Formats: sequence, C-alpha cells, structure tokens
Amino acid sequence: MLSILVINSKGGSGKTTLSTNLASYYASRKFRTTILDYDPQGSCLQWLRVRPGHTGTIHGANAAPPKGASTLHNLQKWVPVGTEVLVIDAPSGTRGLLLQEMVRRSNYIVVPVVPSPIDIHATADFIRDLLHLGGASSAKTRIAVVANRLRSDSPSREALESFLASLKLPYLTSISDSDNYLRAAGKGLGVFEMDEADTASERLEYLPILKWLDGQEINNRTSDIDTNVVNMDDSRKFAVQRAAVKAWHSPIMRKAQR
Ligand SMILES: Nc1ncnc2c1ncn2[C@@H]1O[C@H](COP(=O)(O)OP(=O)(O)OP(=O)(O)O)[C@@H](O)[C@H]1O
Ligand SMILES: [Mg+2]
Repeated sequence: MLSILVINSKGGSGKTTLSTNLASYYASRKFRTTILDYDPQGSCLQWLRVRPGHTGTIHGANAAPPKGASTLHNLQKWVPVGTEVLVIDAPSGTRGLLLQEMVRRSNYIVVPVVPSPIDIHATADFIRDLLHLGGASSAKTRIAVVANRLRSDSPSREALESFLASLKLPYLTSISDSDNYLRAAGKGLGVFEMDEADTASERLEYLPILKWLDGQEINNRTSDIDTNVVNMDDSRKFAVQRAAVKAWHSPIMRKAQR
C-alpha cells in the first residue's frame, strides 16, 4: 500500500489541500483510496461529504483522538482491507506519540511549507522533530518538501531558497497560490477532476509529487523555483502540462489508462 503522510506542525500550510488533491487524483485513477483524517477539525471528512456521487470513491476514516480521551484509540479510524493508497492528513501542532504513530503508518511523508519567514522558521524546527523525535530518519520512510502558495512576486523567495538549500531533503515542487484549489475544495473535488484546460498549471505543479510517490528520484534545484509554472502564460502551461503527462509512462498512469 502507498501510504502518504501530509504533515507540518505549522497551521495553514496546505496539508488538507494537498491531502484532498492527492486522494482525489488516485481515486479518479481507480485506485482504492482512503483518507485518514487525524485533525479534530475534520476538514477532509467535510470535503468528502460534499464530494459528488459520480467521482472516484474515497473512504474517509476519522482518526482524530476522541474529545477528552487520553488514548489514541478511535474505532472510526479503520482503514478498509484492500486500500491501495492511504492519505493521512495531519493536524497542526502534531508531536509526541501521535507524530510517531503517523510516521509509523506512512512510507512517504510530504511537508508543505508556505514561503513566509514565520512558516519557514517553524517548518525547520518541525522537520528536526520529525526526523529525530518522530522517528522519520529511518531509511524506510521517504520525506520531501513542497512549497505551497508561492506567488511570483513573493518577497520570501530568497528565504525559501536558502531554507530549501539547507535541507538534506528533496524539494519536489512549488504550488502556486491559485483560486482553483479553493474552487475544487468547495466542490469536494481535486484539481485533477476539474476541467483540464483550466487546471493545466495546477496539474503540472503536482506532477513532480506524483512522480516521486511513484518511486522516481526528483532532483529539483532551488533555482528551479524561478522557472516554474508560476511564471508561464496560460497556453504555455497547458502545452507543457500535456507534454509532461504524455511523457510520463509510470505504472500509475498505465493502471489509470486501463
Ligand atoms: N495553493 C493554494 N492556493 C490557494 N489557496 C490555498 C492553497 N493551499 C491552501 N490554500 C487555502 O489556504 C487555507 C489553509 O489550507 P489548508 O486547510 O489546506 O491548510 P492546513 O495545513 O490543512 O491547515 P490546518 O493546519 O488548519 O489543518 C485554506 O483556506 C485553503 O483553501
Ligand atoms: Mg488541515
């Protein structure tokens, strides 16, 4: 089973947005997909409630610790047998036993970070905890960072670049600040389920994440931030997206095409 933990202790970094988009991508490609929502806010489960009936099925499991309970047990966190892709949405502020439990359940960890000085600082501390206290430094778990809500005029571009350069973790992609993520969330969809021409840049931004989850090495350099899709015009984004998806003959895409 592909088990993806989306986590950052910093609130609002884009964990739920990334989780729902990844889950909907795999579900729309016919993978048996489950979202395990550890957040007491239940945002993923709320997103599932508005998800249209014709879309790929996603099982929602509630893993948030019951209110007032000191244990981690919650019967609703049952993951159906046969799940092929498990996406785990972590709440902000996760640490201690809960962090260790989530790390144990995952084979891939994606850390979204918003390029602001406060977020970058908090994320650096979190990654240290994740590796040491959370037990994620073991070789079996692969960890990578994703920049989220990047604007082409972002004043924190330099801070982000030096943060990424200082990490010994792969940086996969930068996701733009785009209303399409908000539109998709409101409809219970992911960008891969929306009109292809309207979401070309978002699909392109996600491609390195999907490839990495497919076992490929991604060697993004921080200088790639300057040449990413944020700066392309719409027709170029669409052309590049089509070409990139076409060129990518991964096992996942092959299964999707069957
Ligand atoms: N790339 C993006 N473009 C535009 N809006 C975004 C993007 N990513 C996230 N958002 C919006 O930012 C807000 C916070 O995102 P999200 O809920 O995914 O973060 P989170 O890390 O799950 O937050 P929390 O820590 O509260 O669980 C949401 O309103 C979401 O729709
Ligand atoms: Mg969330």
